[in-house]
Amino acid sequence: MGLILGLESSCDETAASVVRDGYEVLSNSVASQIAKHAPHGGVVPELAAREHLVAFDPVTEAALREAGVTMNDIDAVAVTQGPGLIPALLVGLSFAKGLAAGYKKPLIGANHFLGHIYGAFLDEGHGVLESKATYPLLALVVSGGHTSLMLIEENGDARQLGCTIDDAAGEALDKGAKLLGLGYPGGPIMQKTAEGGDSRRFDFPRPLTGSAGKALSPENRYNFSFSGIKTALLYHVKNHADADGVLPAELLKDTVASYQEAVVDVLVRKTLMAAKDFNVKTIVVAGGVACNSVLRERFEALTPKKIQLRLAARKYCTDNAAMIGGLGWHYFRKGIFAPQNADSFARLPVITKVPFLG
Ligand code: KG4
Ligand code: ZN
Repeated sequence: MGLILGLESSCDETAASVVRDGYEVLSNSVASQIAKHAPHGGVVPELAAREHLVAFDPVTEAALREAGVTMNDIDAVAVTQGPGLIPALLVGLSFAKGLAAGYKKPLIGANHFLGHIYGAFLDEGHGVLESKATYPLLALVVSGGHTSLMLIEENGDARQLGCTIDDAAGEALDKGAKLLGLGYPGGPIMQKTAEGGDSRRFDFPRPLTGSAGKALSPENRYNFSFSGIKTALLYHVKNHADADGVLPAELLKDTVASYQEAVVDVLVRKTLMAAKDFNVKTIVVAGGVACNSVLRERFEALTPKKIQLRLAARKYCTDNAAMIGGLGWHYFRKGIFAPQNADSFARLPVITKVPFLG
C-alpha cells in the first residue's frame, strides 16, 4: 500500500498529483505557463523556474485537496529529477526535499522519460504491465524534448533502439509553427490549422526512412531526424511567399497538413518497422506529441491486430505529475529512495532497466 505525492517541473508545467498504489490517480493538478512563454515563442528556462516557484504551493495544495488527503497521509514524495531544464527541475526538487524533510517522508527521484511511458498505464494498466503477453513492449516517446524508441522486456530489461539525431518531433512542430507565425506551442496549433487541409498537396521529406532514393543505413534504422523537415518548410515558404514574404492564406492549411503528415508518417513507419523487427506484442505511444489526433488515428489504423496498441490518455501525454506519482510508487515498493543531496540532471541517462517491472 502506498500513497505517493508526485511533483513535476521539468519544463513549463507545474504539476502535483496524488496516486494510490501506482495506478489509481486521485488528483492530477497542472498549472500551465504557456501564456507566460508565448510572447517569447518558446520556453525561457529562468522564467519557467520563477513561475514554478510561485505555482508549486497552490498546485500541491489543490492536488491534496482534490484527493481528499493531507501530507500526513502521504507515504512518499516523488519528484522529477530529470531529464529537463535544470533551473526548472531544481525548483521542483528543492520543493520536494523541503516537503519530505518537513513531514519526515521518504524522497523519490523519478525519471521524466520513463514517467511518460508509465503514463500509458495509469488508471487501468496494472494487469497489463504484469501480463507475460504484453512483452516485448516497444515504447515511442514523442515530446518537445524526446523522440525515442525503447524496447522493454518482461523482466524489466530495457534498451533504447534509437532516438532523434537532431530535433525532437515536438520541436519540429513547435519550430514549424513559429516559422509560419502561428504561435506557441506549435503542436496543438499545427493540428488545428491542418484540419480540413490536403496533407498530400506538398511533399515534405521523410528523413531516415529509406525513401526518396536514399538507402537507410543500418545505424540509423531506428533513429529519427527532424531538422531537415524544418529547413524544407523554410524553403517552401520562400518559394511560395507573396510580395510581402508571407505564405498566402490559401496555401497555409495544406502546407501545415502536409508538414504534420510528414512528421506523423515518419513516426508511425519507423515504430511499426521496429515492432516487426523485434516481434513486439505491445506498442506504447506517449509524450506530448502523442496527443496528436492524426498520429493516434494512424497508429490505430496501421498497427497489426496481433499487436496491442496503448496510446496514453491525452491528460497523461503532456507533462503531468500523475505519471511521476505512479512511477514513484514502484521506487517506493522497492525501497529506492533519493538522498537529501540528490541533484537534478538535464540529459537522459542510458537506461538498461525500467523501475516499474520486477
Ligand atoms: O511531453 P510534453 O508536454 O513536454 C516535454 O516533455 O517536452 O510535450 C510537449 C510537446 C510540444 O512540442 C507540443 O507542441 C507537443 O508536445 N504537443 C503536440 C500536441 N499537443 C502537444 N504535438 C502535436 N499535436 C498535439 N495535439
Ligand atoms: Zn515531458
